[in-house]
Amino acid sequence: MCNLRIAVQKSGRLNQDSMKILKDIGISIDNGKDQLKAAARDFPVEVFYLRNGDIPQYLKDGVVDAAIIGENVLIEKGDDIEFVERLGFSKCKVSIAVPKDSEANSLKDLAGKRIATSYPETVKKFLNKQNINAQLHKINGSVEIAPNIGLAEGICDIVSSGSTLFKNGLKEIEVLLKSEAVLAVSPKISEERRAILQKIQFRIQSVLKGRN
Ligand code: PRP
Ligand code: MG
Repeated sequence: MCNLRIAVQKSGRLNQDSMKILKDIGISIDNGKDQLKAAARDFPVEVFYLRNGDIPQYLKDGVVDAAIIGENVLIEKGDDIEFVERLGFSKCKVSIAVPKDSEANSLKDLAGKRIATSYPETVKKFLNKQNINAQLHKINGSVEIAPNIGLAEGICDIVSSGSTLFKNGLKEIEVLLKSEAVLAVSPKISEERRAILQKIQFRIQSVLKGRN
């Protein structure tokens, strides 16, 4: 019998809640630190611990069959990867922010300006939709520092509690999208593995119902 290969975030904000939901649906995993792959004890599932940004490509290639991942990452990578379930955790926004004293009130006001972001494809999509030209600077982390060091007039990043914006003297001016963790599926999943995924999905649905 084959195993369903599920990717989860190796470390970061989704990791703990991802492991918790697997545990709640009865999938227990013995995974030592630094182990990048682990089999479940009591279910035909293997868990792969991967970097967030790499997961869409693995799904696309069919190297993993499913993944617990932020919807925002799927949108950024734009590979039309589908998800079958919203998981109700890791809720966040992807927002545009500017320095508190800036006169900009929306994305439009950043026309001709520089925007620093880890989500260039997402921002590009919104700029194109509204026919706005702006200069994008891709940074991989600590995006909120960009206006303070003169790198950009605005930023686009994830907002969860809002604390990072506040601490860096920034204000949110536009929410591009809202996101949460989802159960995504590879377009190349086999019938046999899809049947395992369906079982997992049913279990997730009942756990989520219980949580509400
Ligand atoms: C993430 C994100 C924001 C912040 C949002 O950064 O990039 O900066 O969290 O959360 P908050 O609204 O609750 O403050 P993270 O701390 O993961 O670090 P990184 O940007 O350097 O990857
Ligand atoms: Mg950050």
